[in-house]
Amino acid sequence: MSLAGTRVLVSAGPTYEDLDPVRFIGNRSSGKMGFAIAAAAARRGADAVLVAGPVHLKTPDGVRRIDVRSAAQMHATVLGALPADVYIGAAAVADFTPRNVAPAKIKKQPGHDTLTLELVRTPDILADVATHLRRPRLVVGFAAETDDVAHNARGKLDSKRVDAIAANRVGVAGSGFESDDNALTIYWRGGEIALGPAPKTTIADALMDFIEERLAS
Ligand code: C5P
Repeated sequence: MSLAGTRVLVSAGPTYEDLDPVRFIGNRSSGKMGFAIAAAAARRGADAVLVAGPVHLKTPDGVRRIDVRSAAQMHATVLGALPADVYIGAAAVADFTPRNVAPAKIKKQPGHDTLTLELVRTPDILADVATHLRRPRLVVGFAAETDDVAHNARGKLDSKRVDAIAANRVGVAGSGFESDDNALTIYWRGGEIALGPAPKTTIADALMDFIEERLAS
């Protein structure tokens, strides 16, 4: 129960950005990594709050789950759940959302072979948590990089003002969105540590070990 008395806030899964009543723009995040992290925090006695995008996963034992759909809803819900001691942003938040949501289903127009959608940036939840008046003591982000992983992940430490970035080692066998396994490297200002490839539950426990150490230091 080494995280007893600690509030750990986790965001997980994709966000869906609606175009009209029947269509959306989304991404392939399964939510498994974030759910495993919330489960690991609860097992250690934390008050674990999980803000989940649309996923098909069971709520882990001892976790308080709040379901959301869009990036805007996730932003409002995560900020509304502060204060927390730790925030882990493991969600694959859509970077862009349609400027307008059509009130009725968008129809094919005779003679028009193309459709242009105007998209606008979504709020950066991680950066907003990291600069919030009620900033958690520890803010951890995720990064899915394909090249120059260390350079890009370390850049995010500063651009988003976070304490650590867990970078998915994309391309490692068995890792990634839908998989039960993952491989991460955690970067912080004082060092880095490679975790896995291993089941996401094992990686989540190793991440919790890291978080406990950082909270104690
Ligand atoms: O900048 P990039 O999207 O690669 O950063 C990824 C990290 O930022 C993840 O932790 C993700 O949850 C978070 N993020 C966010 N809000 C956004 C976009 C990304 O919190 N709109």
